[in-house]
Amino acid sequence: MANMVVVLDFGAQYNQLIARRVREAEVFCEVLPGDTPAERIRAKEPRAIILSGGPSSVFAPDAPTMDPAIFELGIPVLGICYGMQLMARLLGGDVKPAEGREYGRTTMRKLGDSTLLGDVPEQSTVWMSHGDLVAKPPAGFAVLAQTDKTPIAAMGNAEKNLWAVQYHPEVNHTQEGFRVFTNFLYHIAGIEPDWRPDNFIQSAVAHVSEAVGDGRALIALSGGVDSAVAGAIAREAIGDRLTAVLIDHGLLREGEVEEVKEAFSDIDLRVVDARQEFFEALAGVTDPEQKRKIIGREFIRAFERAQSLIGEREVLIQGTVYPDVIESGGKNAHTIKSHHNVGGLPEDMAFRVVEPLRWLFKDEVRRVGHALGLPDTLVWRQPFPGPGLAVRIIGEVTEEKVQVLRHADAVVRQEIRQAGLERSIWQAFAVLLDIRSVGVMGDARTYGRPIVIRAVESQDGMTADWVHLPYELLDRMANRIVGEVDGVNRVVYDITSKPPGTIEWE
Ligand code: XMP
Repeated sequence: MANMVVVLDFGAQYNQLIARRVREAEVFCEVLPGDTPAERIRAKEPRAIILSGGPSSVFAPDAPTMDPAIFELGIPVLGICYGMQLMARLLGGDVKPAEGREYGRTTMRKLGDSTLLGDVPEQSTVWMSHGDLVAKPPAGFAVLAQTDKTPIAAMGNAEKNLWAVQYHPEVNHTQEGFRVFTNFLYHIAGIEPDWRPDNFIQSAVAHVSEAVGDGRALIALSGGVDSAVAGAIAREAIGDRLTAVLIDHGLLREGEVEEVKEAFSDIDLRVVDARQEFFEALAGVTDPEQKRKIIGREFIRAFERAQSLIGEREVLIQGTVYPDVIESGGKNAHTIKSHHNVGGLPEDMAFRVVEPLRWLFKDEVRRVGHALGLPDTLVWRQPFPGPGLAVRIIGEVTEEKVQVLRHADAVVRQEIRQAGLERSIWQAFAVLLDIRSVGVMGDARTYGRPIVIRAVESQDGMTADWVHLPYELLDRMANRIVGEVDGVNRVVYDITSKPPGTIEWE
């Protein structure tokens, strides 16, 4: 990759955001562990290096550190928050605990001109989150900005091309945050932006062609965006040497199976109807964990059955995306990885696994999908759990309840789409409760089930806020669900964030 940037990860909750901002600036970047040796970094020939923030204090006994030789590579470096403190400390500056932790929005004032803060107004709002601060910069550094509580909010050594900010330019609360990235990447590191859909499609297609060679490959489509886009890339690369399998476990959303069939009508797509097996295995089961386990097991069985019909395939294409790669590789991040293994494939498969999307963020995956001609409904589909509608039915899962939920869910999604909110909301869906309450319709008393509407905003699914949907929209959804979906006589809206709730109900 000609123009590439390395982000060294010291475990900040925002580390993925840094990488995303760099990609938004149309520059390719890779996230590596903070302790990656200078030699390994040099071998990758990056045009710039960014040091991320981190949850630690540089004074903590197990504080993550970095190879100081990185500052001698002659490659421009930008330190952010913890990265700035590390830079200051390793280069002989003075870091000390701040008197009070500075957290949240604050006003930054520039002190003179610098390339890093070029075109940032004299005063602007920045987002701070730190317990230590740099009290004295290392020799050769100029102080570029300050806030009331932080005497050095930004510093730089133009001669050595080492720069740092104490605040978080990657978060939206920092007004001119993106400009700091473009100043650093374009004007300091001299990078020409070139990471665009055409470019990433080309490299992903080339990667699959090379990995599969003359062989044949298999992909499991789930109905979701990632596997669909991975499939579209593989189709581009190897055409009819690709076979796709879609396990229809009866727990997919309305229209999902049909849309996948249509989008992949030109390749060897095998839809495995495993509905009966799944419903039989789930009969009588109410415990959420047990449901997940059964679905995971049945999924593997169905896939093995499909595999035995298809015959030999050397390569398995998987839709792993970059956040999955960062999350499983980083060792500093204070994140809790939840139960996302359902829908996993047999462990003892004799495949080589190829992951064409392993460098892409979700928004890039969507751009690729769009550029490859996949329909909007597929490309803009919201995340959906592997165990499907089963984790949105509280109590025993039956075919009848799935039908009720699928219909209600379709109404919620349609209304959200029509209100133009589908792309800005992380997930909006329906949950079916296995209880009954009394209602009245026409002149008759009803005794029906309630539907819960859930809509959340989130960056990554780890934490989430419930969405303040307009009352009119809630009203329309409730009226339509009670009017159109048999057996439902009440609609409620879930106003719990995560934590303390989870996004799904089970
Ligand atoms: P929770 O309910 O844990 O969900 O707050 C966080 C995000 O993960 C999705 N989710 C899953 N995705 N397999 C998946 O692929 C699963 O088993 C699974 N469970 C939850 C959920 O939809 C949300 O986006």
